[in-house]
Amino acid sequence: MTRSKLSQAYPLGSRLDEDGRLELGGCDAVQLAREFGTPAYIVVEDDLRARAQTFVEAFKARTKDFDVLFASKAFPCTAVYRVLAQEGIACDVASGGELALALRGGFDPARIYMHGNAKSVEELRFARETGVGHIVIDNADEIERLEQVVGGGAPQAVLLRVTPDVCGATHAAISTGQADSKFGFSMTDAPDAIARLRNSEQLQLVGLHVHIGSQILELEPFRRAIEAIAPLGDFPVYNLGGGLGVAYTAEQEAPRISDYVAAKVDTVADVLGPGKRILDEPGRALVANSTVTLYTVQSVKHNVSTWVAVDGGMSDNLRPMLYGAVYEAQIADRFPLSGPGGGTPSRLTGKHCESGDVIVHDVELADPRVGDVVVTPATGAYGHSMANNYNGVPRPPVIFVSQGDARVVVRRETYDDLAARDVDDVR
Ligand code: LLP
Repeated sequence: MTRSKLSQAYPLGSRLDEDGRLELGGCDAVQLAREFGTPAYIVVEDDLRARAQTFVEAFKARTKDFDVLFASKAFPCTAVYRVLAQEGIACDVASGGELALALRGGFDPARIYMHGNAKSVEELRFARETGVGHIVIDNADEIERLEQVVGGGAPQAVLLRVTPDVCGATHAAISTGQADSKFGFSMTDAPDAIARLRNSEQLQLVGLHVHIGSQILELEPFRRAIEAIAPLGDFPVYNLGGGLGVAYTAEQEAPRISDYVAAKVDTVADVLGPGKRILDEPGRALVANSTVTLYTVQSVKHNVSTWVAVDGGMSDNLRPMLYGAVYEAQIADRFPLSGPGGGTPSRLTGKHCESGDVIVHDVELADPRVGDVVVTPATGAYGHSMANNYNGVPRPPVIFVSQGDARVVVRRETYDDLAARDVDDVR
């Protein structure tokens, strides 16, 4: 039997040696676990840069006037913002907190787009004070609120978010294009909002925004969304949102970035006409596959199934629990032989106090033992960003690896951090 090949879920440039040991960004995965502890998010920096470049090149090949925006909710971490800013990407923020991090990461405020279906006066003021280039208007209440915040100041450029009544096949919790959505103006209300904004002295409407959902693995829904908003008029700018899905396992197939970009750009040209400025907002497709999570096995037991328990779980990856998301897992220095019987059928579970804390329901691990380092690939999107302290578990560090070097960019939380916001010392 031969060693199984690494699936495409792993970061670009990852390698398995002849003994089945995993190397990430030129670093041995087990050594990384020893040096930095587990659980840990390991980000292959060159993968992040390469995917950013692929997006930019794909647009450049088809149109002159575009910008690629990092949907930063996917991985709001200063070092990630910094890398993507260096790669010439612009930025989407969904809150004041993400705006603060994006600025810290070095984004030019003029190239930041602020989203949100419930932006507060404080967030809008913060956006104005810091010179955010565009605010994406979600609802009529926000129009009033933002006009007041702008007052007699320079007009604020805005886009209007529309819900096109077009969905892709994805989990209901991450579908946003349906008519009955909490995001954006309905197709019925959008014309009045457009007219209202055209009469505004404080707000300058430059275009429309549409985002139909996330982890979408077909291109057709993206085309249909563009067709759906065409009747709303002619605008110089269209922000087409994000949503391109990625492969989480060897079996999943995601469209290529260049095909996704081609589908969107060509549909804009066909349906909306030439010369439009096109904005796109990938989150997951930029960052998901750049990162893996390393865990250490704490216990292996047999209760009907073989339960392999690790030192993390729903505090570092909520996606299996929230969306039934499926991940791969392997033992980092003992990848299974290919073919049937390559491993022990296992249930990879976390350390949290509920039965739902299962990271991978059905996975073959090669003779799992206490102390083994387990790796789950494709945890870069919405892993760190949705991490939490359930059961008082400190959140993992973020480690960047590149060409054999590793550095901590976010340190592990400590028990003191868990109490850092306490204001009185109750004993
Ligand atoms: N633009 C807007 C306005 C969005 O709301 C989102 C994602 C994106 C762009 C980026 O979408 P992406 O390219 O990442 O699919 N926590 C969920 C995903 C929530 C997505 C929210 N909005 C998950 O872990 O699957």
